[in-house]
Amino acid sequence: MTNLQNDTFLRALNREPTDYTPVWMMRQAGRYLPEYRASRKTAGSFLDLCKNPNFATEVTMQPLDRYPLLDASILFSDILTLPDAMGLGLYFEEGEGPKFERTLREEAEIKALQVPDMAKLQYVFDAVAQIRKTINGRVPLIGFSGSPWTLATYMVEGKGGTDFLNTKKMAYARPDLLHHILETNAQTVIQYLNAQIAAGAQAVMIFDSWGGALSHNAYIEFSLNYMQKIVAGLTKNNDGRKVPCTIFTKGGALWLEAQAEVGADCLGLDWAVDISEARERVGDKVALQGNLDPAILLSTPAAIEKEVVSILASYGKGDGHVFNLGHGITQWTPPENAAAMLEAVRKHSQQYHQ
Ligand code: CP3
Repeated sequence: MTNLQNDTFLRALNREPTDYTPVWMMRQAGRYLPEYRASRKTAGSFLDLCKNPNFATEVTMQPLDRYPLLDASILFSDILTLPDAMGLGLYFEEGEGPKFERTLREEAEIKALQVPDMAKLQYVFDAVAQIRKTINGRVPLIGFSGSPWTLATYMVEGKGGTDFLNTKKMAYARPDLLHHILETNAQTVIQYLNAQIAAGAQAVMIFDSWGGALSHNAYIEFSLNYMQKIVAGLTKNNDGRKVPCTIFTKGGALWLEAQAEVGADCLGLDWAVDISEARERVGDKVALQGNLDPAILLSTPAAIEKEVVSILASYGKGDGHVFNLGHGITQWTPPENAAAMLEAVRKHSQQYHQ
C-alpha cells in the first residue's frame, strides 16, 4: 500500500472518523487561477493541456501548490474525452462551450457506435500515473468520467447547455436507440474508470451534470440505471485500499433515496438542497459531498465564512461529509476567496468531529 500523508478525504467517503471535514473544489484547476491561464497559453489550448501528461500534471498541481488546505486532487481532463475517442471530434471555440464535429442522430450511425479502444485514451492514464508520482502521497487523486446520460446529451446535441430536445425526443420516440448509446457509454465508462484506477486514481467520481433535466421516470431509466451498472463494474480495491465512488447528479436531489441504493459510496449535492435534510434521507447508506453555491465565492470572505458555517452546522456532528462546491468554481472567482472558503472549513469543522 502506497504511503498517503493525508487520507482524510478517503476516510470521509468511507464514513470513517476524521479530525475535520475534508474539502476540495470541483474544477479546482481552471481559469480563475492566473497560473492556469499562463499554462494554457503556453500549451496552446485547453485540449492541448488535457492531451499532454506534462501539462495535465502541471495544472493539476497548481491548486494544490496554492492551497495547502485542499484534501484531494482531481485529474485534469474533461468528461468529453470519451465521445472524442469515439470519433465525434471534440473542439472548443474561443469563449464558447465544447462542440462536436459530428452528432449521433441517424439510426445507422448510432448502431455503429462502439466502445473505443482504450489505447486512444492512453494520454489520460499516463497523466494519472504522472500526477500520482508528482503528488507523492500528499493527498489522494480523484479520477472521473461523465455519466452515460450526460455524455449522450453531448453526443446527440453536438454541444452542451441546450434544452436537450433531440436527446429527449430520442428517449421517447426511439428509446431502443438511446439505450444503445447509453449501454455503449456505460461499458466505455467502466473500462475507462478501471484503467484510471489501475493507473493510480484513488477515488472516482461520475458527473451526471444534466440528469436533473429529466422527468422522474426518465431519470431512473436513462440515467440512474446506467450509473448503477457502472458502479457494479468498477474495481473496488486497488493497492490495498478501497476505491470509493461518488455519483453526482446536478439538480438531482429529488432522487437522493434512489441514488443511495445504487452502490456508490458518496452522493454529490448541488446547492439547492438543505444538507441536513439530505443526510436524513440517505441515512447511513452513503457519504455526502457538497453543497456550497459556487456564486458565494464571488462575494466577500465574511459572507463566505458565514455560508460555510451554515452548511457545516446543517450537516451537524459526525463523519461522512466531504465539503465542496455544488458545481464547478466559476472563472470569475478571486483566488483569495477560494482560500477564505478552505480556511473557514478547516477552522469551523473540527468541532463536529470528536
Ligand atoms: O475539477 C477539475 O479541476 C478537473 C477538471 C475538469 C474539467 N472538466 C476541466 C475543464 C472536470 C472534472 C471537468 C468535468 C466536466 N466537463 C463536466 C462535468 C462537471 C460539470 O461541470 O458539470 C462537464 C459537463 C464538462 C464539459 C465541459 N468542459 C464544459 C461544459 C466546458 C465549458 C464550460 C466551462 O466551464 O468552461 C468545458 C471546458 C473545461 N473543462 C474547462 C476546464 C478547466 C475550461 C476550459 C478552458 O480553459 O477554457
